[in-house]
Amino acid sequence: MRVLRYHPLLLGLLLAAGPAALAQKTKVKVKKTAASAAPAPAPAADLEPRITALLGQMTLEEKIGQLNQYSGREVTGPASNRKTDLLNSIRAGQVGSMLNVKGVADTRLIQAEALKSRLKIPLLFSLDVIHGYQTVFPIPLAEAASWDLAAIRESAHVAAREAAASGIHWTFAPMVDVGRDPRWGRVMEGAGEDTYLGSLIAKARVLGFQGEKLGGTDAIMACAKHFAAYGAAIAGREYNAVDVSEQQLWQTYLPPFKAAADAGVATFMNSFNTLNGVPATGNRYLQRDILKGQWQYPGFVVSDWGSIGEMVPWGYATDKADAARKALAAGSDMDMESDSYHTTLAQSIQAGKADMALLDDAVRRILRKKFELGLFDDPYRFSDEKREKQVLSDPQHRVAARDVARKSMVLLRNDNATLPLAAPRRIALVGPLAKAKRDLAGSWVVLADTAQITSVYEGLSKRAGKTAQVRYAKGCEVQGDSRAGFAAAVEAAQASDVVVLCVGETWDMSGESKSRTDIGLPGVQNELFQTLKATGKPVVVVLMAGRPLVFNQIADQADAIVYAWWPGAEGGNALADVLFGDYNPSGKLPSTFPRSVGQIPISYQLYNTGRPVTKPGDIRYKSAYIDSPNTPRYAFGHGLSYTSFKYDGLRLSQPTLTAGQAVQVQCTVTNTGKVAGEEVVQLYLRDLVASVARPLKELKDFQKISLKPGETKTLTFTIDKDKLAFYNAKLEWVAEPGDFQLMIGSASDDIRLESKLTLQ
Ligand code: NOJ
Repeated sequence: MRVLRYHPLLLGLLLAAGPAALAQKTKVKVKKTAASAAPAPAPAADLEPRITALLGQMTLEEKIGQLNQYSGREVTGPASNRKTDLLNSIRAGQVGSMLNVKGVADTRLIQAEALKSRLKIPLLFSLDVIHGYQTVFPIPLAEAASWDLAAIRESAHVAAREAAASGIHWTFAPMVDVGRDPRWGRVMEGAGEDTYLGSLIAKARVLGFQGEKLGGTDAIMACAKHFAAYGAAIAGREYNAVDVSEQQLWQTYLPPFKAAADAGVATFMNSFNTLNGVPATGNRYLQRDILKGQWQYPGFVVSDWGSIGEMVPWGYATDKADAARKALAAGSDMDMESDSYHTTLAQSIQAGKADMALLDDAVRRILRKKFELGLFDDPYRFSDEKREKQVLSDPQHRVAARDVARKSMVLLRNDNATLPLAAPRRIALVGPLAKAKRDLAGSWVVLADTAQITSVYEGLSKRAGKTAQVRYAKGCEVQGDSRAGFAAAVEAAQASDVVVLCVGETWDMSGESKSRTDIGLPGVQNELFQTLKATGKPVVVVLMAGRPLVFNQIADQADAIVYAWWPGAEGGNALADVLFGDYNPSGKLPSTFPRSVGQIPISYQLYNTGRPVTKPGDIRYKSAYIDSPNTPRYAFGHGLSYTSFKYDGLRLSQPTLTAGQAVQVQCTVTNTGKVAGEEVVQLYLRDLVASVARPLKELKDFQKISLKPGETKTLTFTIDKDKLAFYNAKLEWVAEPGDFQLMIGSASDDIRLESKLTLQ
């Protein structure tokens, strides 16, 4: 094969960045973004004969070509993987997909090269569109804190709309890994610790990206990743091994993947980790038996970056050829960047060491998606520069970003109604993140144009207008030990009525390859808090981070705490909405916040154990720590409001459930405060005695409701047998007769109503 370097024109285009300026709106009125008017591609049934006919014309090399995916702009991965002969390979039909090439101009240019190949099979352009494309939305973990499935779906839809208008066909999202270890930097990319909530969010995100059916030009293929159990990486260390029981795998880690598959997710990505000794990439059980077998999944599986080749250092394959054979046999259809399929599969097949039928199956799966996207009918369907310009400057997208950002913020503490800030006020805005922009976008940003990010300073100053005065002092950096800025911070505090302190992590402290052993506030930020607290002024702490942090002193002493995560482009405005009470906070934690790293891994799904702690302090020979309570700092589902809610009137349509029946559970919730607010009403169940010990609580349903002051709403939940079921020791999904404790509350540690329910 001849080696060609990048065409200089192409290279120039690849490097050119031209983000359009977006208008801002202050009012947050979310309209559904427009649907595309482009004609839909042919119905799925008509595609199979076309796929078969095309496959029949393909040479072995061309078939393998469809299985290769390469990066066009090497932003991640080792330099040794970089390709210089890419264009040549594309023209020869040896590439099925590109990642990290974006924008109509660039993708069109490269697509044109693919169309010079013998069979003119179009490329799939893929990208990590994780929380927005041009418009940066809050990080996925933040959005999960909104518990607002419609807002989450809209966020994915806007991202898809912008990406699709920029020539992208496929995003590597959603990440649906359940994460219970905040040391693992990738918790920022998921939906938190809970399987039920995570499954609903997985579905919402898939539907947001793809629409009801693939093929619209404002939708892109989604990818459920990382299959599977990546979130359980030992000790929270990135790319580490995973060792979980089969029961945990089925009970906790697989359901969000199943939910994504059921929602029609076009692709899956496997993962870097081993699962009980076998690399996920070479794992037949996961990919062939479960995904493509039991679940009858019709889409295709892409490897993670280089993960086929990584089976060699794992000690699971002798060399790339062995790894490629094992990956194909296990059901990995596309090779992202390891170059193993491209360089070895043909020889393996010719030598009878790899199965042609498996190759054909992988090719069919990939071609099917290209047909479904309509690329064979028009390879440039996603290549309209006018549309790109128009969609990327749609002001409605900023409105949606602000809407979900403020819904994502969690009010953790609010003593003496410190918040909302009353006007007129003198505000000392302090902290290394108060004027930050890039950090608010978080990691996994496609177009990190900081000019588009609204800082807290800008958001607050704008909102404060003439009614309040904002005095800024940085105080310190996020990292480092300089206290030189403390004096100015104290001065600002002393001249003000209230301090708003913005601390947390910089954008590159959580995300891929950002595991931390110490998840406390970095640098001298905590000391800055103590110094400000010592002034006697009320201190409102705003925490911005990509993971749950440990901040015990702040948790004990701050007057109010807002967990704002990394809130995205509209973060500053959204925070102003919350701090000034224009929006009453409604976020609830999707992850448990530990008191210390020593409690990790941690989730609200604790076991009672044979020796439960029954009275505080009574820990001798009990399942406890001698240096810390078992309880977390903040429980899953926790989140306060500027109003209060009264729960009442729990009623079950019947106390006993028999086969085939469902019980209706009703309760009322009243807004007993002075302002309108939203509440996430959470329903938990505990199976009291079962053939395997069950957790003390499992979230089984929730409703997010909005109530005016004094208003009461009656809520109805349905409990059927499925809600009582679990995987038993034989991995059967069963609901066992017996008693269940039913709990309804405002958080997993704030249960307001309880009842017993019996399954006959
Ligand atoms: C590696 C990450 O694990 C994966 O989530 C991502 O989609 C790929 N790199 C591509 O960037």
